[in-house]
Order: sequence, then C-alpha cells, then structure tokens
Amino acid sequence: MKVLSVASEAVPLVKTGGLADVVGALPAALADEGVEVTTLLPGYPAVMQATKRARVLHAWDSLLGEPARLLSRTLEGTRLLVLDAPGLYQRDGGLYADPSGTDWSDNWRRFCALARAAADVAGGVGPKGAGFDLVHTHDWQSAMTSAYLRYAPLSDRPVPSVLTIHNMAFQGWFGAEVFPRIGLPRAAWSIDGVENHGGVGMLKAGLATASAVTTVSPTYAAEIRSPEFGMGLDGLIRARGHDVSGILNGIDTALWNPQTDRALRQRYTVRTLARRQGNKRALEAEFGLEPGDGPLFIVISRLTWQKGMDVLLECLDHLVGIGGRLALLGSGDAAIEEGFHEAAARYPGRVAVRIGYDEELSHRMQGGGDAILVPSRFEPCGLTQLYGLAYGCVPVVARTGGLADTVIDANPAALMAGVATGVQHEPVGYHTLSSALSRTVALFSRPEVWRQIQSNGMAADFSWGASGRAYAALYRSLLA
Ligand code: ADP
Ligand code: GLC
Repeated sequence: MKVLSVASEAVPLVKTGGLADVVGALPAALADEGVEVTTLLPGYPAVMQATKRARVLHAWDSLLGEPARLLSRTLEGTRLLVLDAPGLYQRDGGLYADPSGTDWSDNWRRFCALARAAADVAGGVGPKGAGFDLVHTHDWQSAMTSAYLRYAPLSDRPVPSVLTIHNMAFQGWFGAEVFPRIGLPRAAWSIDGVENHGGVGMLKAGLATASAVTTVSPTYAAEIRSPEFGMGLDGLIRARGHDVSGILNGIDTALWNPQTDRALRQRYTVRTLARRQGNKRALEAEFGLEPGDGPLFIVISRLTWQKGMDVLLECLDHLVGIGGRLALLGSGDAAIEEGFHEAAARYPGRVAVRIGYDEELSHRMQGGGDAILVPSRFEPCGLTQLYGLAYGCVPVVARTGGLADTVIDANPAALMAGVATGVQHEPVGYHTLSSALSRTVALFSRPEVWRQIQSNGMAADFSWGASGRAYAALYRSLLA
C-alpha cells in the first residue's frame, strides 16, 4: 500500500511542535505494517537546504498563480516530495509567521497550493508508477487536499483520504474573498464543502470531505464532540459520527531513549536510574539552580493559554514554598514569557528560565528533571509527557485529552496496585495545580514509591507499534 502523507512540518527538517514529531515518525511506524509512506512538504529554506540533490519530477507553470516544481529525494530512508515554490516558501521567518510573529498574510495561498499539489500528485503527477492508494493529511495546512480531490480532481480514479486533527484550535479560516482564487468550482462553496461562517474554513473543509477523520487520542476524539473542545466544529464532528476516531500518538524510540540518547551526560535504563543524579546536577548547574532536597520540576512547552502556563505562573510561589525548583524551556506569548522572567528574578536559584527553542536541551531536561509539568487546558495528545515517562521524569498533568489517556494518577488505589505513572489534576486552576504540586513533593519524599512510579512509566510502551497498526487498519478499511 502506498500512502502520500501531506504536512506543513516534519522532523528532522522543520519543527514547531508535536505535529512534526508525529509526521516524521509515521513512515517508520507504518513500514512495519507493509505501508510505504511518502511525505510531501513545502520547500521552506531548511527543506530546500536538506534536499539539494533532489530530482525534479514535475513543474507547474502556475500553481494558484505561482511557478512551482515537485522535487523528490530520499533522506535517511524516508521518501520525500518537496513542493519548491519560492514565491510561497522561500523567505526568512517562521513556517507560518513573519519574523515579528504575525501570520503570513498569504497563508491561504501557501497552504492551498500545498493541498492542490498533493491532489495533483494523488491524481498521477509525479513519481512514475507511484500511484498512491491513499492520502493522509494533517491539520488545516494540508486539509484542503480532500476538498480538491472531491471538487477538482486531476483524474477520475477515486483516492480515499484520512485527515488527522492534531489541534482543533487552529482552523485556517480566511475571508470569502480568497474563494475565487483557490481554484475550486462554485459547488465547493457549500456547507458540505469549504464554506465556514461566511469564509473559507480549511480544517472544516477537510473535516467535511475526508473519507475518515482521526485525532491523536481517544479522549480528545470524545472531547471535540462538545462545544467547549470542538471550537465551533463540534457539530460537524458529531455529524461525521463513526468516521471520527482517536489513535494515540507514539514516540520515536530511536530519538527518545535514555539508554542511547547522545544528548545525555549519563545514559541510563530502569535498572541504572541512580545515574540520573549526574544529569540532574548538570542540569541544575546549567540553569544556575541551587541543589536541593525537593524535586526539580521542568517545563518544555509553548508558553500559551492552551498549555496552562498562566496558571503555572500563579502557582510558582507555592511551588517554591514547598521546596520545589523549576527549570523552564519555552517560548510563546510575550506576557507569559515576561511573567517567567520576573519569577526567575524573584526566585534566583529556585526558578530558572530559557526562552527559546532548543532540541538538545529538551533531551537533557527530560534526562535530569524529576517531574515534568503539563497543566494544559486541552491537549489533543501531548508528547512531552510521553518523553517524560520514557525518561523517568514523572509527568504531572491535567486530566484532559491525551494526557488523560497516557498517565496513571498516583491515587491510593494505583499506588496500592503498583501501577501509578504520574500525577493528574482537574480542572486546570490554581487550587488543583497547587495540590498536584504538593502531592508530587510528598511522593518524591518517599524514594521507594517515587522509584516505582518512575519504573512504571519507563516500562510503559508508547512506541509506535499499536498506533501504526491502528492507522494501517484504518487505511485498509478505506481501500476495501
Ligand atoms: P504541541 O505540539 O501542542 O506544542 P506536544 O507535546 O505534542 O505539544 O509537542 C511539543 C514538541 O515540541 C515536543 O517534541 C517538545 O519536546 C517540543 N518542544 C516544545 N517547546 C520546545 C522548546 N522550547 N525547545 C525544544 N523543544 C520544544
Ligand atoms: C498538536 C497538539 C498536541 C499533539 C501534537 C501532535 O500540536 O497540541 O497535543 O501531541 O499536535 O499530534
């Protein structure tokens, strides 16, 4: 089976969040299932740089008005197709926003072009004889692919599609004025097509037209049926009924394994957990934190409302008061960044902050921190708690979405049964998070209990095996 996976980011080339981890891991996850995945990405500068010796498979004189080429390259065993359209992607700044953080004003065209190209490839343009059986799109940036396949296909051969929603909060909505410029017939302007509240809704269009829809955890799949989590699209999610399912993300154990991780000073396994101590001391030194008896909490996150980072700010006095320390790595909302800078100034040696993005440091933090905080208001899956589990960095999480599905709260029953892997709290707020922090400190003060929680997490299997099988089964059901 040949699948074309279309996305706006993928590890190791370009990453702003968990989407890239997942898209980057899918080809290997599915190879074991007999599914050959080719990934189509926009030709951002970093992608062009890494695919210099690519073959040119096709050229468009005008892809939504832009000259573009389809390039092909295999990178570290992964089949890549790159949409080289310099007018759309060859620019300094972020994947979605300019250097000042404002969304690119032509994002509608940048990602409709990606989707149009994907539909063309599915329709026969590109690799000779590739004949993709199915297209898998991710989030609003590639969701329009199934709308092009339905309303303006290149060939008559029907190609089924799967849309995976990684985050309902980002919907790719644009004003009605873009509709005449995206190359779709009038028939697409309907509630069964791309129209959404009087504009073009790209995620909505994918939801309406994909053969099947998945999201990245079973609990989030249930949550988005409600107005609170569905964010305006819950009606459509409910209408699609059993076409919507939840398949939990896995983690790439080649990249995230404390036994082999080259970013760590001390590598370790569940049997050599004591070695983590060396990593912890190194991390404290790196962040300028005072050593102490209490737990070293870490955060690796976008600093946003979704992630509950404003609530964590409110709880910092409590965290420090009960003997905790915090090392934070992240970037995001200016006010939240400022709040953490102020907290670090107020508590030197106890709270330390790195504003920015640093992949290597994130590994060192998972390998040396005692507990990772993920107090998200909603979390489709979440990957940092999974990395925490694998590294013995105990997750302290909100009970929502994928966090609810992957962490077993250390309540008395779970402790008695010896199955706890972390601490959960609900709903996200000052009192619930503060008491979760207190519970964590209390558990940490009982070394044997703590070690058991760490070991349980490290023994849990969140590699791609089961999820790869679930995607392959879904693909097969659509091709039957
Ligand atoms: P989301 O995609 O919503 O941001 P996830 O938990 O699914 O949340 O994925 C976030 C990914 O980005 C993880 O791989 C995490 O380690 C990484 N990450 C987030 N912030 C940073 C940062 N500042 N530096 C390095 N890695 C980060
Ligand atoms: C999104 C979600 C996150 C999920 C990631 C990968 O960014 O916010 O919860 O883990 O996608 O699916």
